[in-house]
Amino acid sequence: MDLGLQGKVAVVTGGSKGIGYATAKLFLEEGAKVAICARDKANLDKAVKELSAYGEVYAEAIDVTEEEAVYGFADRVVERFGAIDAWVNNVGSSFARKKAQYSGEEIDKHYTVNFRSAVFGCQAAFRYMKDRGGSIVNVSSLAARCATSGRASIYGPMKAAVRSLSQTFAGEYAAYGVRVNCVMPGFTDTPLVREHLDPAELAYTTSETLLNRAARPEEIAAPIVFLSSDRASFMTGTTVEASGGRSVTLNPTYSWDKKASE
Ligand SMILES: NC(=O)c1ccc[n+]([C@@H]2O[C@H](COP(=O)([O-])OP(=O)(O)OC[C@H]3O[C@@H](n4cnc5c(N)ncnc54)[C@H](OP(=O)(O)O)[C@@H]3O)[C@@H](O)[C@H]2O)c1
Repeated sequence: MDLGLQGKVAVVTGGSKGIGYATAKLFLEEGAKVAICARDKANLDKAVKELSAYGEVYAEAIDVTEEEAVYGFADRVVERFGAIDAWVNNVGSSFARKKAQYSGEEIDKHYTVNFRSAVFGCQAAFRYMKDRGGSIVNVSSLAARCATSGRASIYGPMKAAVRSLSQTFAGEYAAYGVRVNCVMPGFTDTPLVREHLDPAELAYTTSETLLNRAARPEEIAAPIVFLSSDRASFMTGTTVEASGGRSVTLNPTYSWDKKASE
Protein backbone atom coordinates (compact mmCIF):
# COMPACT_ATOMS: atom_id res chain seq x y z
CA MET A 1 0.00 0.00 0.00
CA ASP A 2 1.38 3.40 -0.96
CA LEU A 3 1.00 5.58 2.13
CA GLY A 4 1.20 8.77 0.06
CA LEU A 5 4.04 10.19 2.17
CA GLN A 6 6.32 11.05 -0.74
CA GLY A 7 7.63 14.62 -0.23
CA LYS A 8 5.75 15.09 3.07
CA VAL A 9 7.52 16.39 6.16
CA ALA A 10 7.52 14.32 9.36
CA VAL A 11 8.89 15.21 12.79
CA VAL A 12 9.83 12.44 15.23
CA THR A 13 10.87 13.41 18.76
CA GLY A 14 13.45 11.09 20.28
CA GLY A 15 14.50 9.87 16.85
CA SER A 16 18.08 8.88 17.70
CA LYS A 17 17.26 5.46 19.19
CA GLY A 18 14.68 2.74 19.55
CA ILE A 19 11.11 3.25 18.35
CA GLY A 20 11.77 6.86 17.30
CA TYR A 21 14.73 5.87 15.13
CA ALA A 22 12.73 3.06 13.48
CA THR A 23 9.87 5.50 12.86
CA ALA A 24 12.18 8.09 11.29
CA LYS A 25 13.67 5.38 9.06
CA LEU A 26 10.25 4.17 7.92
CA PHE A 27 9.10 7.72 7.12
CA LEU A 28 12.23 8.15 4.99
CA GLU A 29 11.67 4.82 3.24
CA GLU A 30 8.15 6.05 2.41
CA GLY A 31 9.64 9.14 0.77
CA ALA A 32 9.08 11.72 3.53
CA LYS A 33 11.61 14.30 4.71
CA VAL A 34 12.27 13.81 8.39
CA ALA A 35 13.27 15.99 11.35
CA ILE A 36 14.40 14.31 14.56
CA CYS A 37 15.56 15.53 17.95
CA ALA A 38 17.16 14.05 21.05
CA ARG A 39 19.39 15.38 23.84
CA ASP A 40 22.64 13.50 23.25
CA LYS A 41 24.39 15.17 20.29
CA ALA A 42 26.78 12.30 19.59
CA ASN A 43 23.95 9.74 19.33
CA LEU A 44 21.95 12.15 17.23
CA ASP A 45 24.84 12.73 14.81
CA LYS A 46 25.29 8.97 14.47
CA ALA A 47 21.57 8.51 13.74
CA VAL A 48 21.59 11.32 11.17
CA LYS A 49 24.55 9.77 9.42
CA GLU A 50 22.80 6.40 9.19
CA LEU A 51 19.35 7.77 8.34
CA SER A 52 20.67 10.08 5.62
CA ALA A 53 21.23 6.96 3.50
CA TYR A 54 17.42 6.80 3.16
CA GLY A 55 16.54 10.46 2.55
CA GLU A 56 16.71 14.04 3.79
CA VAL A 57 17.12 14.44 7.55
CA TYR A 58 17.21 17.51 9.79
CA ALA A 59 18.20 17.12 13.44
CA GLU A 60 18.52 19.23 16.57
CA ALA A 61 19.88 18.36 20.00
CA ILE A 62 17.10 19.66 22.25
CA ASP A 63 15.27 18.62 25.39
CA VAL A 64 11.57 18.31 24.56
CA THR A 65 10.57 19.00 28.16
CA GLU A 66 11.62 22.61 27.53
CA GLU A 67 8.72 24.53 26.02
CA GLU A 68 10.58 27.10 23.93
CA ALA A 69 13.04 24.49 22.66
CA VAL A 70 10.15 22.50 21.16
CA TYR A 71 8.54 25.56 19.54
CA GLY A 72 11.92 26.74 18.23
CA PHE A 73 12.59 23.28 16.78
CA ALA A 74 9.23 23.39 14.95
CA ASP A 75 10.05 26.86 13.58
CA ARG A 76 13.40 25.68 12.24
CA VAL A 77 11.88 22.52 10.71
CA VAL A 78 9.49 24.75 8.76
CA GLU A 79 12.35 27.09 7.77
CA ARG A 80 14.22 24.06 6.46
CA PHE A 81 11.42 21.99 4.88
CA GLY A 82 8.59 24.54 4.37
CA ALA A 83 5.87 22.72 6.34
CA ILE A 84 5.06 20.02 8.88
CA ASP A 85 2.64 17.30 7.77
CA ALA A 86 3.16 14.76 10.54
CA TRP A 87 4.45 15.02 14.11
CA VAL A 88 5.20 12.06 16.37
CA ASN A 89 5.58 12.65 20.10
CA ASN A 90 7.71 9.60 20.80
CA VAL A 91 9.83 10.76 23.77
CA GLY A 92 9.03 9.09 27.06
CA SER A 93 10.66 7.09 29.80
CA SER A 94 9.62 4.73 32.57
CA PHE A 95 12.52 5.30 35.00
CA ALA A 96 11.75 1.82 36.35
CA ARG A 97 12.26 1.31 40.05
CA LYS A 98 11.03 -1.14 42.63
CA LYS A 99 10.53 1.07 45.67
CA ALA A 100 6.87 1.72 46.52
CA GLN A 101 7.20 5.42 47.36
CA TYR A 102 7.79 8.28 44.94
CA SER A 103 9.08 11.70 45.88
CA GLY A 104 7.54 14.83 44.41
CA GLU A 105 10.69 15.30 42.35
CA GLU A 106 10.37 11.80 40.86
CA ILE A 107 6.69 12.30 40.05
CA ASP A 108 7.52 15.60 38.34
CA LYS A 109 10.22 13.84 36.30
CA HIS A 110 7.72 11.25 35.03
CA TYR A 111 5.10 13.89 34.31
CA THR A 112 7.56 16.17 32.53
CA VAL A 113 9.15 13.70 30.14
CA ASN A 114 6.02 11.69 29.36
CA PHE A 115 3.14 14.19 29.46
CA ARG A 116 4.41 17.78 29.35
CA SER A 117 6.64 16.95 26.36
CA ALA A 118 3.62 15.55 24.47
CA VAL A 119 1.54 18.67 25.18
CA PHE A 120 4.31 20.94 23.85
CA GLY A 121 4.74 18.69 20.81
CA CYS A 122 1.02 18.75 19.96
CA GLN A 123 0.89 22.51 20.38
CA ALA A 124 4.02 23.07 18.28
CA ALA A 125 2.62 20.87 15.51
CA PHE A 126 -0.78 22.55 15.59
CA ARG A 127 0.77 26.00 15.07
CA TYR A 128 1.90 24.83 11.64
CA MET A 129 -0.96 22.44 10.84
CA LYS A 130 -3.97 24.56 11.66
CA ASP A 131 -4.09 26.23 8.23
CA ARG A 132 -3.28 23.15 6.13
CA GLY A 133 -4.14 20.04 8.15
CA GLY A 134 -1.85 17.30 9.39
CA SER A 135 -1.49 14.33 11.68
CA ILE A 136 -0.13 13.98 15.20
CA VAL A 137 0.67 10.63 16.82
CA ASN A 138 1.43 10.32 20.53
CA VAL A 139 3.30 7.27 21.77
CA SER A 140 1.70 5.92 24.94
CA SER A 141 2.34 2.46 26.38
CA LEU A 142 0.56 -0.76 27.18
CA ALA A 143 1.22 0.35 30.77
CA ALA A 144 -1.69 2.76 30.23
CA ARG A 145 -4.03 -0.24 29.98
CA CYS A 146 -2.23 -2.80 32.16
CA ALA A 147 -0.91 -1.27 35.36
CA THR A 148 2.75 -1.96 36.18
CA SER A 149 2.08 -1.76 39.91
CA GLY A 150 5.14 -1.73 42.13
CA ARG A 151 7.63 -1.46 39.30
CA ALA A 152 7.00 1.55 37.09
CA SER A 153 3.92 2.64 39.03
CA ILE A 154 3.87 6.28 37.98
CA TYR A 155 4.73 5.62 34.34
CA GLY A 156 1.42 3.89 33.48
CA PRO A 157 -0.79 6.71 34.77
CA MET A 158 1.35 9.24 32.86
CA LYS A 159 0.98 7.20 29.67
CA ALA A 160 -2.78 6.95 30.32
CA ALA A 161 -2.74 10.75 30.41
CA VAL A 162 -0.94 10.77 27.03
CA ARG A 163 -3.69 8.56 25.62
CA SER A 164 -6.38 10.85 27.03
CA LEU A 165 -4.51 13.89 25.70
CA SER A 166 -4.69 12.40 22.20
CA GLN A 167 -8.48 12.22 22.43
CA THR A 168 -8.69 15.70 23.91
CA PHE A 169 -6.58 17.34 21.20
CA ALA A 170 -8.34 15.27 18.52
CA GLY A 171 -11.48 17.05 19.70
CA GLU A 172 -9.83 20.47 19.69
CA TYR A 173 -8.14 20.16 16.30
CA ALA A 174 -10.73 18.23 14.24
CA ALA A 175 -12.24 21.24 12.46
CA TYR A 176 -8.75 22.28 11.30
CA GLY A 177 -8.12 19.00 9.48
CA VAL A 178 -5.63 17.87 12.13
CA ARG A 179 -5.99 14.27 13.30
CA VAL A 180 -4.54 13.16 16.63
CA ASN A 181 -4.05 9.48 17.41
CA CYS A 182 -2.20 7.33 19.88
CA VAL A 183 -0.08 4.20 19.59
CA MET A 184 0.23 1.94 22.60
CA PRO A 185 3.30 -0.32 22.30
CA GLY A 186 3.91 -3.40 24.37
CA PHE A 187 7.43 -4.54 25.25
CA THR A 188 9.74 -3.52 22.47
CA ASP A 189 13.39 -4.41 22.11
CA THR A 190 14.95 -0.94 22.43
CA PRO A 191 17.81 0.58 24.45
CA LEU A 192 15.23 1.70 27.05
CA VAL A 193 14.11 -1.88 27.67
CA ARG A 194 17.60 -3.35 27.55
CA GLU A 195 18.71 -0.79 30.13
CA HIS A 196 15.87 -1.44 32.59
CA LEU A 197 14.86 -5.10 32.23
CA ASP A 198 16.91 -8.11 33.22
CA PRO A 199 16.57 -11.19 30.97
CA ALA A 200 14.43 -13.07 33.52
CA GLU A 201 11.93 -10.25 33.64
CA LEU A 202 11.83 -9.99 29.86
CA ALA A 203 11.20 -13.75 29.66
CA TYR A 204 8.29 -13.36 32.08
CA THR A 205 6.72 -10.50 30.15
CA THR A 206 7.05 -12.26 26.82
CA SER A 207 5.51 -15.44 28.27
CA GLU A 208 2.42 -13.32 29.00
CA THR A 209 2.33 -12.16 25.38
CA LEU A 210 0.40 -14.23 22.83
CA LEU A 211 3.15 -13.82 20.23
CA ASN A 212 5.69 -14.86 22.91
CA ARG A 213 8.31 -12.20 22.21
CA ALA A 214 9.05 -8.51 22.45
CA ALA A 215 8.30 -6.28 19.47
CA ARG A 216 10.98 -5.11 17.09
CA PRO A 217 11.05 -1.28 16.97
CA GLU A 218 9.95 -1.32 13.31
CA GLU A 219 6.78 -3.20 14.32
CA ILE A 220 5.78 -0.18 16.40
CA ALA A 221 6.96 2.28 13.75
CA ALA A 222 4.55 0.72 11.23
CA PRO A 223 1.27 1.73 12.94
CA ILE A 224 2.77 5.13 13.84
CA VAL A 225 3.63 5.87 10.21
CA PHE A 226 0.30 4.48 8.97
CA LEU A 227 -1.66 6.73 11.37
CA SER A 228 0.49 9.66 10.22
CA SER A 229 -0.46 9.08 6.60
CA ASP A 230 -3.56 10.05 4.62
CA ARG A 231 -4.39 6.33 4.45
CA ALA A 232 -5.66 6.81 8.01
CA SER A 233 -7.76 9.81 6.95
CA PHE A 234 -10.86 8.69 8.87
CA MET A 235 -8.98 7.84 12.07
CA THR A 236 -8.71 10.39 14.83
CA GLY A 237 -8.88 10.24 18.61
CA THR A 238 -8.16 6.54 18.49
CA THR A 239 -5.57 4.28 20.08
CA VAL A 240 -3.85 1.46 18.25
CA GLU A 241 -2.39 -1.16 20.56
CA ALA A 242 0.65 -3.03 19.24
CA SER A 243 1.42 -5.36 22.12
CA GLY A 244 1.62 -8.79 20.50
CA GLY A 245 -1.48 -9.69 22.47
CA ARG A 246 -0.12 -9.04 25.97
CA SER A 247 -2.58 -9.71 28.79
CA VAL A 248 -5.56 -10.31 26.52
CA THR A 249 -6.21 -13.91 27.60
CA LEU A 250 -6.01 -15.63 30.96
CA ASN A 251 -3.99 -18.47 29.43
CA PRO A 252 -1.49 -16.75 27.13
CA THR A 253 0.74 -19.83 26.66
CA TYR A 254 -2.13 -22.12 25.62
CA SER A 255 -1.48 -22.01 21.88
CA TRP A 256 2.29 -22.55 22.32
CA ASP A 257 1.81 -25.40 24.80
CA LYS A 258 -0.75 -27.08 22.54
CA LYS A 259 1.47 -26.83 19.47
CA ALA A 260 4.49 -28.15 21.41
CA SER A 261 2.49 -31.21 22.53
CA GLU A 262 1.32 -32.13 19.00
N1 LIG B 1 10.49 0.06 24.59
C1 LIG B 1 9.33 -0.34 25.08
O1 LIG B 1 9.14 -1.51 25.49
C2 LIG B 1 8.18 0.63 25.16
C3 LIG B 1 6.91 0.10 25.50
C4 LIG B 1 5.83 0.97 25.56
C5 LIG B 1 6.01 2.31 25.30
N2 LIG B 1 7.25 2.80 25.01
C6 LIG B 1 7.37 4.22 24.73
O2 LIG B 1 7.90 4.39 23.43
C7 LIG B 1 8.67 5.60 23.40
C8 LIG B 1 10.08 5.29 22.88
O3 LIG B 1 10.67 4.34 23.74
P1 LIG B 1 12.05 3.63 23.39
O4 LIG B 1 12.03 2.33 24.09
O5 LIG B 1 12.31 3.69 21.93
O6 LIG B 1 13.04 4.62 24.17
P2 LIG B 1 14.66 4.81 24.04
O7 LIG B 1 15.25 3.61 23.38
O8 LIG B 1 15.13 5.18 25.40
O9 LIG B 1 14.78 6.07 23.08
C9 LIG B 1 14.26 7.30 23.55
C10 LIG B 1 14.58 8.39 22.57
O10 LIG B 1 14.07 9.64 23.09
C11 LIG B 1 15.16 10.55 23.31
N3 LIG B 1 14.83 11.36 24.48
C12 LIG B 1 14.62 10.90 25.75
N4 LIG B 1 14.32 11.94 26.56
C13 LIG B 1 14.36 13.06 25.79
C14 LIG B 1 14.14 14.44 26.05
N5 LIG B 1 13.83 14.88 27.27
N6 LIG B 1 14.26 15.32 25.02
C15 LIG B 1 14.58 14.89 23.77
N7 LIG B 1 14.79 13.60 23.47
C16 LIG B 1 14.68 12.69 24.47
C17 LIG B 1 16.38 9.65 23.46
O11 LIG B 1 17.61 10.32 23.16
P3 LIG B 1 18.43 11.10 24.33
O12 LIG B 1 18.48 10.19 25.52
O13 LIG B 1 19.77 11.36 23.71
O14 LIG B 1 17.69 12.35 24.59
C18 LIG B 1 16.08 8.61 22.39
O15 LIG B 1 16.31 9.12 21.10
C19 LIG B 1 8.63 6.17 24.81
O16 LIG B 1 7.60 7.12 24.90
C20 LIG B 1 8.31 4.96 25.66
O17 LIG B 1 7.70 5.32 26.87
C21 LIG B 1 8.34 1.98 24.92
